[in-house]
Amino acid sequence: MKTKVLLLMLILFLTNEIIAQKFENLAQTPPMGWNSWNSFQCEFVNETVIKEMADAMVEKGLKDAGYEYIVIDDCWQIGRDKNGYIIVDKKKFPSGIKSLANYIHSKGLKFGIYSDAGIKTCAGRPGSKGFDTQDAEMYAKWGVDYLKYDWCFTEGQDAKISYKKMRDALYKTGRPIVFSMCEWGENKPWEWAEDVGHLWRTTLDIDMKGRFDGDIWDNHLGWTTILDMQVGLEKYAGPGHWNDPDMLAVGNNDMPENEARAHFTMWSMLAAPLMAGNDLRNMSVNDQNILTNKELIAINQDVLGKQGFKIEDMGNFEIWQKPLSNGDMAICLFNRETKGKKYQVDWSKIKIKDFSGTYKVKDLWKNKVIGTTDANFTIEIPSRDVVVFRLMK
Ligand code: GLA
Repeated sequence: MKTKVLLLMLILFLTNEIIAQKFENLAQTPPMGWNSWNSFQCEFVNETVIKEMADAMVEKGLKDAGYEYIVIDDCWQIGRDKNGYIIVDKKKFPSGIKSLANYIHSKGLKFGIYSDAGIKTCAGRPGSKGFDTQDAEMYAKWGVDYLKYDWCFTEGQDAKISYKKMRDALYKTGRPIVFSMCEWGENKPWEWAEDVGHLWRTTLDIDMKGRFDGDIWDNHLGWTTILDMQVGLEKYAGPGHWNDPDMLAVGNNDMPENEARAHFTMWSMLAAPLMAGNDLRNMSVNDQNILTNKELIAINQDVLGKQGFKIEDMGNFEIWQKPLSNGDMAICLFNRETKGKKYQVDWSKIKIKDFSGTYKVKDLWKNKVIGTTDANFTIEIPSRDVVVFRLMK
C-alpha cells in the first residue's frame, strides 16, 4: 500500500515536471524595451507617463531600432479584493491596465508589468505570493507580454520553487509572456533557471542616481562594477535565456557621452537585455543616437546569441570579444582610465578566440570599414570610452 502511494506521488511529481515549462521561442535575442523604474520609481509613475513613453519610443526611432517592450515597474497595484484579485492603483492608472495595454499594442509595441514572488513588492505594494495563478490569469486577460518578477519580502521562500510556480501559472494561461526573473543573482539563477525564465538579473540594482558617491561609473553598483560581475557568466546565456546585468543607465544622472557610449557598447557585447531607463520624451540627441545605434544593436541582437567575454585584462584597459553569426566577431577595446590610451592593434597578438585568416575591420561607432586584419595600426581610445570593431569574413 505504502509503495503504491509513493509510486503515485512519484508519477504525479514527474508529470508535473514534464508538463511544467516556460514559453519556448520567446526572447530568442535579448529583449529590448523601456522600464519605468530608473526615471520614475514609485512616486512618479502613472498612466500618462507610460503612454507618453510609448509615443516617444515610436517618435524618437527606438521602435524602428528594435525596442519593443514598455514595462511598468513597481507601484501600479494597491491591494486585493475579497476574492484575492489584484486591485490597480486608480490614482495613478485611472483608465485601468487593460486600456493601457491596448494603447501600447495599438502603437505596435508590447506591454510588460511587474510583480514580486513575496508577500509584498520592494516598494511595499501587494506581491503575488499565494496568488500566482490569479495574477497570471489577470495578466493574460489584460494582454501582458512580459512579466518582471521581483524577490523582496520572500523570507523563508525557496527561489527555484517560487519562480517555477509563476512560470507554470503563466504557461497555463496560454499567453506567451516573457518571464524576467529579478532575484538579483542571490541564488545563482544562471545555474538553474534556463528552463524557468527568459532572463534573470545577475546583481542588485544598477546605480542610476549616484546614490553612493554622486557617481554612477564605478561605485559598488556603478555599471563598470556590474560589468566586472558578469565575467564567467557567459556560458550560461543563449537564445531564450539571458543574463540580465540590469537596465541601461544611459541618460540617467547626466551620464557623459563617452561613458554612455561605453556602457551601451558593453551591454551590447554582453548580449544583455537592452531596457532603457531614461525619460525618452526629452532625452538628449546624444543619448538618442547611442540608444538607437544600429551597428551596436546588431551586435547585441546577433542570432548566435553568444554573450561576450573578456580576452585581455591590462588593469584599466580591457579587450572583449563577442562571437557573431557567419563567423563574424565583435572586438571591443575598453579604456577605464581618466585619460586617453594609445594602443597598438596587432591582430596576431590579441588573444582572440577562433581567429583565423583575414577579416575586414569595421569601426562600429564610426560606421566605417578601416581596413583588414592583415594591417596593424595605432589607435587612441579616449578616457572612459571604447573603440569597437566588427571583424567580417
Ligand atoms: C527592486 C528591483 C528593481 C525595481 C524595484 C521596484 O529593487 O531590483 O529593479 O524593480 O525593486 O521596487
